[in-house]
Amino acid sequence: MSLKAEIQRRRTFAIVSHPDAGKTTLTEKLLLFGGAIHEAGAVKSNKIRKTATSDFMEIEKQRGISVATSVMGFEYMDTKVNILDTPGHKDFAEDTYRTLSAVDSVIAVVDAAKGVEEQTLKLVEVCRMRDTPIIFFINKLDREGLESFDLLDEIEKKLKVKLCPLAWNIGMGRNLKGIYDLRRQRLTLFEAVEKQKKPEPIHITDLDDPSLASHIGLTATAKLKEELELVTGVYPAFESEKFLSGEICPVFFGSALNNFGVQELLDTFIEIAPWPQPMRTEQRLVRPEEEAFSGFVFKIHANIDPNHRNRIAFVKVCSGVFQRNNYYTHVRLDKKLRFSSPTAFMASKKEVVDEAFPGDIVGLYDVGNFKIGDALTEGEDLKFLGIPSFSPELFRYIENADPMKSKQLQKGIEQLMDEGVAQLFTKVSNGRRVIGTVGPLQFEVIEYRLLHEYGATSRYEQLPIHKACWVEGDAEELADLKKKKHGSMAVDKQGRDVFLADSQFILQNTQQNYPKLRFLFKAEL
Ligand code: G4P
Repeated sequence: MSLKAEIQRRRTFAIVSHPDAGKTTLTEKLLLFGGAIHEAGAVKSNKIRKTATSDFMEIEKQRGISVATSVMGFEYMDTKVNILDTPGHKDFAEDTYRTLSAVDSVIAVVDAAKGVEEQTLKLVEVCRMRDTPIIFFINKLDREGLESFDLLDEIEKKLKVKLCPLAWNIGMGRNLKGIYDLRRQRLTLFEAVEKQKKPEPIHITDLDDPSLASHIGLTATAKLKEELELVTGVYPAFESEKFLSGEICPVFFGSALNNFGVQELLDTFIEIAPWPQPMRTEQRLVRPEEEAFSGFVFKIHANIDPNHRNRIAFVKVCSGVFQRNNYYTHVRLDKKLRFSSPTAFMASKKEVVDEAFPGDIVGLYDVGNFKIGDALTEGEDLKFLGIPSFSPELFRYIENADPMKSKQLQKGIEQLMDEGVAQLFTKVSNGRRVIGTVGPLQFEVIEYRLLHEYGATSRYEQLPIHKACWVEGDAEELADLKKKKHGSMAVDKQGRDVFLADSQFILQNTQQNYPKLRFLFKAEL
């Protein structure tokens, strides 16, 4: 098969949702319908269970499981589907944002009863920043939820997206009768099904077909017709270009738990979702069909077993063909590396692969060469863009608690930061190291891992900072800021200037006093 054909048959995407909306269930059902697994429950949840929030060891164990489920590839109707898993826990949101830089589209799951929730808002915002095509799946229709029109209204208003329903529900909760696939003009009747069973669709091309009423009753038929008229009147028709540019978002309805609406979603997804798209780099746009291989690291997974200190770097292939045992250039280190056992992920199994194509993810065993954002090429100097780093929200000084182990501590901190566990800032005034995270869990994880993996004992000291932001712009103003706010200035790992604001008031005040400076809450890695 030609490179072009390999590219065009690939779909690399992520499923995102607010915790509990049904991301794990939907992932599993897509694998089930795609024939990748044969029974529900075969894929271990990457979800950090609510009960475990105070037990970080348990969390790490559960995160350990997620190596296998980080990428789930399967073949379906001549299409190679790659699902990239994202952690649901909000303390690991940065992991999710970075994973989103490696996908070409996203399925966002929304709980029909809860509507748009906090995490959905943030995740969709990240997708919209990059114009990633989004498909919405309204889940849990088997329960009483919001009226579909109201729900879609809420999604459009809160998430600032334009929707385009490709399926429509007939009732909900106890009155859920089925869904109508607008693209294929077929009806699927709802029955709370056995876990492994797929509901059979009924083809009804004409809504005036009397058999429709015999399936769902006269009242539901009348309501469906009325609603579909409204749907076609209110919402734009599906246009592939508009979807691919992120302008409109298709909507599906269903109940993942009941295998309902999943087939419609999968079949349409295969048809409309984009194949691997060009990637932006500092130097130029990299097109997947280019002959030379290139890729970048978007995730690093550490092995928490102290006897096996290796890590897996997840590389997204962006162009050309990645080949086992070939030498590739690690651009940042300007070093040639060869990989003898690159791993691909099929369903929940890992296997060594000889080659991988654009859109595929390969796992490379690593002993500390990689950090997030690193590029691998055939020699060209490329730096991939669009891998976000968000301003952290919680800060602590980290100190060495054992003077004999300061080297180990330094190395441990460096490597954990390279993995993207948290961000490190160094205060200009006193050289002290500040760890910034998005959630409190990471502090526990860092302390534990420094001790168990690097033998370094650390100690935290509270640091009541409100926000850290990157500062750039007018040189004169920057010099003045650095002088006047010397005690609040720091540098990040790349040496960029960072302002540590003690409060929202101080931040606003400083922004006003330095109109020629930009205070950024997001930086590219
Ligand atoms: P997440 O990954 O987005 O966090 O959600 P997950 O799939 O784990 O689903 C959260 C809960 O919602 C689970 O119940 C799951 O069974 C349920 N669920 C998912 N889809 C549907 C649906 O279509 N209808 C209904 N009624 N429930 C659904 P749980 O009790 O928290 O966990 P479990 O014990 O069932 O695993």
